[in-house]
Order: sequence, then C-alpha cells, then structure tokens
Amino acid sequence: DDFEGRGVWRYSEALPFEEGVTLPEGDTPLHYVPDLEDDIGVRNLRIKHEGMNPTGSFKDRGMTVGVRVAQEVGVDRLACASTGNTSAALSAYGARANLETLVLLPAGKVAAGKVAQASLHGARILEVDGNFDSCLDIVQDLASRGEAYLLNSLNPFRLEGQKTIGFEILERFYEDEGRFPDRIVLPVGNAGNTAALYKAFRELVRSGALAPGDVPKLTGVQAEGAAPMVEAIENDLADTKRWDDVETRATAIRIGNPVNAPKALPGIRNTGGTAVAVSDERITEAQRDLAEQGVGVEPASAASVAGLRKLRLSGEVDPGEDVVCLTTGHLLKDPEAAAEAGADPEPVPNDTDKVLDHLAGKRVS
Ligand code: F0G
Repeated sequence: DDFEGRGVWRYSEALPFEEGVTLPEGDTPLHYVPDLEDDIGVRNLRIKHEGMNPTGSFKDRGMTVGVRVAQEVGVDRLACASTGNTSAALSAYGARANLETLVLLPAGKVAAGKVAQASLHGARILEVDGNFDSCLDIVQDLASRGEAYLLNSLNPFRLEGQKTIGFEILERFYEDEGRFPDRIVLPVGNAGNTAALYKAFRELVRSGALAPGDVPKLTGVQAEGAAPMVEAIENDLADTKRWDDVETRATAIRIGNPVNAPKALPGIRNTGGTAVAVSDERITEAQRDLAEQGVGVEPASAASVAGLRKLRLSGEVDPGEDVVCLTTGHLLKDPEAAAEAGADPEPVPNDTDKVLDHLAGKRVS
C-alpha cells in the first residue's frame, strides 16, 4: 500500500507488525505558538496537534495497530465504549478492515461530530443510559463472554500505536532545538496516552536512544469535575478511586474510573511530573487562546494548555522550561462547544450599503 512506512508505521521497529490497517495516521504538526508562549511565560511552547489525524484525534494511532491485531486474531466483531473519539476512530478503521463494529456511548454526552463519524462509517451505535465508565463495564463483559473484540485502551496494542506520539515529539523537538523537551502536558481521561508515552520513554531509555535524565516530565490535566487521577497523585494512591458522578464541558475526558491508572500513575511520578485539575471556564479560555493562534481544538484538548497556565502561575512550571502541550482532538469534533466559545454570527440585510453601515457600527433597519 502507498502508505507503508509512513506516520505511525515509520516506527514499525517498535510495533508488533510491519504494517497495519492505515489511512494513514501520525506525522501530526508540532506547532509554534509564539504569542501564547510569551503569554504563558515558558522558554518554548509547542503544540502537538493530534486533531490532525485522519478521524481527527490521536485514537487513530492506536486503531491502526489494534485493528490489525483483530485481523490476525480473526474476530467477528469489534467493540468499544467511548466518550466519542475512540468510537469515531474504531468505526473508520473497522470499516476499512471490513469488520462489524459496535460502539457504546453515554447517551446525550457525546459531541455531535463524533456520533456523526461513527454513524457514517457504519458502526452500530448503542446509547447507554449511563456514563462512559458504565459503557466500558458492559464492553468488558461482552468481550469476556466472547461476543466482541475490545478496542478500548485496556487493549495493550492500542497503546503500542499511541507510543508513536512520544517518538514524534522527541524526534521533531530535537531536530528543531537540539535538545529534548523538559515537559509534556496532556489531557487525561482513561490515562491511556499517559501510559503509552511512559512506555515509549522507557523503551527509548532501554535502547540507549534517550538518557534517563532527558525523559520529559509527564504532566496530566483533568477537568475539575472528573479528576480521579489528580486525586490519586495528590494523595499518593496506588490506584484511582472511582468517581461515580462526573461532569465537564470537555466531554471527551468525562471519565471517573481511568482504567490505565496503574500504568499511568508511575509514569507521572517517575518522570517527576504532576497532575492538575482545571475548571471548565479555564478550558474554554485555553480553547480560545489556541484558536487565536490558528489552532482549532476541542475542549478536552485545550485542558492541556489550561493546565500548563495554572502550573506556571503556581510556580510548579519554571519559566525556563521547554514544554510541549498535546492537543488530542480537532475543533470540528464538538461544533457546539466551539460556537459557544466563539463570537456569535451577526445577521445583516441582503444589501452591500447596509452591510457597510453595519460594519461601521450604524444601526441597520
Ligand atoms: N482527549 C481527547 C480528545 C479524548 O478523546 C480522550 C479520550 C482524551 C483526551 C483522554 O485520553 O483516555 O488516553 O487519557 N477519549 C476516549 C474516547 C475515552 O472514548 O474517545 P486518555
């Protein structure tokens, strides 16, 4: 296939196969955002925009590997629970692989763009009267009864693909700056990415490609209304305590029971990172801050920038640091949130002179 060896698959040496079901994924931009860098006050701020993947989120990196594994295993049906992006990615890669796909979504809590993707790619969409964590409980039951192949980030092959985010960041930052970033700040839901990045760093250290002292500090950001990881870091817990009631405008990370916490918590601790919770208001502000730099992201993604700002203000992040913020999903995933955060359209008459009057601030009758 034309896409062989591109994006995620450029790192096939670190993956379980030479190639996968590819659209292709990876090779996302590492944006400069000079105004935001000055405003927040760090030495370097770069934005790794994972919203630029084929289905608009980092989930594609996991699915290109995970769905390939499903083909090898020879399963009949793929399934996932999702706050939206996993379902969009699985639906596309499942369609590409010609496999039946089932997605379980928390009813009324998934952004419109994501449901539309799953729908058009032909998945069966089950809307569960519960939150993401209950959807995942059900999918795990289905998988253990042999009814479906689970492609949530509990599936370790998903995380193999997502390691490539770490490889790309380190490689690209080094090319540009001649050193590795001090810190990577990322939004945390199920903590799959945090676990995947930590694994990527450990593999690089073990292979001798990265000195132990050069491993970036993994810094997780959650919404205040769904912050069990932050609670676990602050209280030095070995695992998270399940939050039954979660709420945030950043629906992608509206998760109370991060299943990858046992893998992700050591990643945060052993790299010298931290975890921080941010309010929905700060998330919306950060979404606007990024938009002003031309970078369009969904609310959960903006949490990374909101978290960095908070840690910079508290002094936990030093002004001399080189920081990469991960933005995990595209603005168009959640058009409603984008429209609410932005300016309202102004109705004008169908007439050029009146349009000019309107622009000049005159009342138009
Ligand atoms: N950002 C976005 C846009 C996401 O969709 C997710 C997770 C995360 C961050 C958190 O990543 O789980 O690796 O800590 N979305 C999952 C889903 C849960 O179903 O789409 P994580």
